[in-house]
Amino acid sequence: MCGIVGYIGFRDAYPIVIKGLHRLEYRGYDSAGVALLDETSNLNIYKKAGKVADLEGFIEGRDHSGTIGMGHTRWATHGAPNDRNSHPHQSGDEKLAIIHNGIIENYGPLKEELISRGHVFKSDTDTEVLIHLIEDIRQEAEIDLQKAVREALKQVIGAYAIVIMSKEDPEMLIAARKGSPMVIGVGKNEYFIASDATPIVEYTKNVIYLDDNEIAYLKADELVIRSIDNEVKTPYVQQLEIKLEMLEKGGYDHFMLKEIYEQPRSIGDCMRGRIYPLEGKVKLGGIKEYTEKFKNAHRIIIVACGTSWHAGLVGEYLIEEYARIPVEVEYASEFRYRNPIITENDIVIAISQSGETADTMAAIEMAKAKGATIFGICNVVGSSIPRLSDAGIYTHAGPEIGVASTKAFTAQVTALTLMAFYMAEKKGTIAQTKLIALLSELERIPSLVERALQSDGLIREISEKFKDSRNALFLGRGSGFPVALEGALKLKEISYIHAEGYPAAEMKHGPIALIDEQMPVIVIATKNSSYEKVISNIQEVKARKGVVIAIVTEGDTEVVRMADYSIEIPSADEAFLPLLATIPLQLLSYHIAVLRGCNVDQPRNLAKSVTVE
Ligand code: M6R
Repeated sequence: MCGIVGYIGFRDAYPIVIKGLHRLEYRGYDSAGVALLDETSNLNIYKKAGKVADLEGFIEGRDHSGTIGMGHTRWATHGAPNDRNSHPHQSGDEKLAIIHNGIIENYGPLKEELISRGHVFKSDTDTEVLIHLIEDIRQEAEIDLQKAVREALKQVIGAYAIVIMSKEDPEMLIAARKGSPMVIGVGKNEYFIASDATPIVEYTKNVIYLDDNEIAYLKADELVIRSIDNEVKTPYVQQLEIKLEMLEKGGYDHFMLKEIYEQPRSIGDCMRGRIYPLEGKVKLGGIKEYTEKFKNAHRIIIVACGTSWHAGLVGEYLIEEYARIPVEVEYASEFRYRNPIITENDIVIAISQSGETADTMAAIEMAKAKGATIFGICNVVGSSIPRLSDAGIYTHAGPEIGVASTKAFTAQVTALTLMAFYMAEKKGTIAQTKLIALLSELERIPSLVERALQSDGLIREISEKFKDSRNALFLGRGSGFPVALEGALKLKEISYIHAEGYPAAEMKHGPIALIDEQMPVIVIATKNSSYEKVISNIQEVKARKGVVIAIVTEGDTEVVRMADYSIEIPSADEAFLPLLATIPLQLLSYHIAVLRGCNVDQPRNLAKSVTVE
């Protein structure tokens, strides 16, 4: 939530900062701003409600010189998304500027205290309070900026990733983090700062992930990192794995469509080097050390949010089915505020695309404190959740830019499938012949996903019929139920059509009252153990004049006869149903949203990584 970017070096900062903001826009897109220090230490600040492109238009023709700069793209928390609340914010004397991602929770009392000391605020944000606090401490104690920043951060409760510029220290940027991500790109006589590596990758592959409670002091030719208690830290420089083309649309109209089409590759990448069908083995380096722990686990608790939570529900189905370990799936946001019973024999699996979701991180911290072993399934390498976890695996889906999660979901499901099979083999809860057969089929899933994508044209035609719907119901049974939930979430978040996902059999306990000739009902009706039962559910819908769009197995005739529209997916073992049945639902929501003229990649009110609770 909110993207921040900074540059200090020998190049013009503005083009780097503005391009960085475009790359980070998926993190927040209700307003944007930049601050630039020119050669004579003039601090030029430009900020605007709206998109980064609006800001760019506003800056055109104005002075944007300087080799030190920073920028911010906002997802509003405190204060409406308007020009005034946009970042950067300034100190009262206008010598300091700050950009911030996160929330200063105790901003209220701090603000009151500062007002009583004569500070005047121009915005409604928590961020402005922090820069006034730094100014106040600096003036009061007559200390240098570095010390004032440290002292101010000690008074702050909450999460932050900040960058500070000063007219009086014009050769330095100060960056700090606690609970919000921050990456430093290391160049030759230049440094880059950003919320994630996407603005940095085209300039350098060498990066440092700042840790919580660390403050970086950056000059063009020097980087010093210290703890908040002023101990010097030795930075660990890592190599980025992402490539520039992964951050471009590559000819597609939207990132979401590109990411949907990338799934044969991303699913393949997630399983690469991890499955050995001929030997009937799954190798997961990240779990190896914890194999005994998994074998003896009394329970697995999966914590996640949104789409990742849906992947967790698929994981529950797979782990219980194959590894016979009881699984509970929890919304991280609820779990963290309960007082759940957790023992040292429990394993908590945290699933997160971004690896930065605040609620999931808080759930991990709570479970850790109660003695559980934490296992992370994340996509973004180097993000916070892998670092908080005892062990884990990366999903290797590659950067996901569209706010609606697509390839990250199927990669998470793939990772959970691998874990279920791994544990089943180690525990001896699956016959070797069965595992060999399943792994051989899993290896073919990328090509089956490729085939599922071939229904795109048909799905677009079907979408035309439903683009004006006001509601939609998604039904599925077994592991088709989380797929239904995910289909409903995709539709509502990008097309703003109200949609519900339901277990098909639950429909008659309430939602059936909603069905009439206006109600599209999307049913996962593939040939698996619940096929006959789903047919009955379709009949119940048809008897009430509902319009059925069925996701069916290739060659099906029975459901096809009953349904108004049918979309085929290739036949596969029931274990892989979620990987295949999700594809048409992603395409359906995509086309409906495009036909409705919605901003598919940046739906209203949303942000890609939810780093506030
Ligand atoms: O980065 P995470 O996987 O932790 O994010 C969790 C949710 O915020 C995310 O899945 C969200 O629901 C997406 N908008 C779904 O498309």
